[in-house]
Amino acid sequence: MEVQEGSVRISVDEVFYNPRMRFCRDLDMLVFAALDSKEYFDALSASGVRGIRAALEAGKVAVFNDVSPKAVEVIKENLRRNGLSADVINGDAAAVMRQKSFEHIDVDPFGSPAPFMDSACLSARKYLSITATDTAALCGSATNSGLKKYGAFAVKTDVYHEVGLRVLIGFAVREATKYEKALLPLISWAKEHYYRVHFKVRRSTSMSARIYEKMGFLAYCSACLRKKVLGFGEGAERCKCGEVFRIIGPIWLGELKDRGFVERVAGMAEGKLKEFLNKILIEVDVPTAYSLPALAKIHSLTLPPAESVVGELKKLGFEASRTHYCGFCIKTDADRDEVVKILEINQT
Ligand SMILES: C[S@@+](CC[C@H](N)C(=O)[O-])C[C@H]1O[C@@H](n2cnc3c(N)ncnc32)[C@H](O)[C@@H]1O
Ligand SMILES: [Zn+2]
Repeated sequence: MEVQEGSVRISVDEVFYNPRMRFCRDLDMLVFAALDSKEYFDALSASGVRGIRAALEAGKVAVFNDVSPKAVEVIKENLRRNGLSADVINGDAAAVMRQKSFEHIDVDPFGSPAPFMDSACLSARKYLSITATDTAALCGSATNSGLKKYGAFAVKTDVYHEVGLRVLIGFAVREATKYEKALLPLISWAKEHYYRVHFKVRRSTSMSARIYEKMGFLAYCSACLRKKVLGFGEGAERCKCGEVFRIIGPIWLGELKDRGFVERVAGMAEGKLKEFLNKILIEVDVPTAYSLPALAKIHSLTLPPAESVVGELKKLGFEASRTHYCGFCIKTDADRDEVVKILEINQT
């Protein structure tokens, strides 16, 4: 079967191809166009759709790799169909990245990127892009999987995408520091069944140490949903409501995006992509998020629009915004009691 996606036509016979990831790839192409890099290593290529699009739509010199000989055949055929020639490697992505460095690496696997992260961090010189589809392991739905793959403890919260993205970024950041590299998120998002993060890579002894100032934990109360940020070495008392906090982490506490970068990408976007990027842009960068229906339910309150809660919080001088990943969630540095007070005032 041949499919058309973006400006390419590709065969997807006997290789993995997920049409549901088209939006992700469309957005990736704008991201790639905004990066000052030439070389792009598509470490787990399957049909090669991402690398071929990166070459044709973002002007990259793509290098392809897949462990499956069938995939390699299909990639070569797809390069021919699109009038391109490129290096195509038939290897284990981790082994390839251990032996050679690449300017920009993309790790887009089935499930978890964890098995590839060590070598990807060693190899990537300027940029690293990762996808994870094992969201249950990341967001606290599958606590043991999260511990085994990402070395982080999480439980189910009211805002699983926020926790999941931060566990994923935190893991990647920790994998890189042993190579004296700091990973800085340029843009990240949670959508449907997957998380996607594009990092800038900086090789610096001091930056890779300082990055731990942005790592830490979230003290989470499952009774009242209160969340408190904890740095490394900090402790948490009991929650104000009397419950014991559960400590989630280590996680990334820093920015999920580089605002200037996302503005540049949004400047090139149209339609649904632009709408999505604008949602990312309005987000404040605090790690404390709340599901308004979950908070309202605890106190048997009715729900005002998220936008008006955000407005009230801002009037009180707090940082607050909606989120890109959930229409009824907010992010704020205000304590959960402040949010509940606003819900109470808004009762009709
Ligand atoms: C989810 S698909 C990649 C999808 C592709 N990036 C896209 O945008 O359509 C994962 C691919 O990784 C390949 N793969 C699995 N383990 C691998 C490994 N250790 N090294 C290289 N490729 C591997 C599989 O053969 C499969 O083609
Ligand atoms: Zn509590």
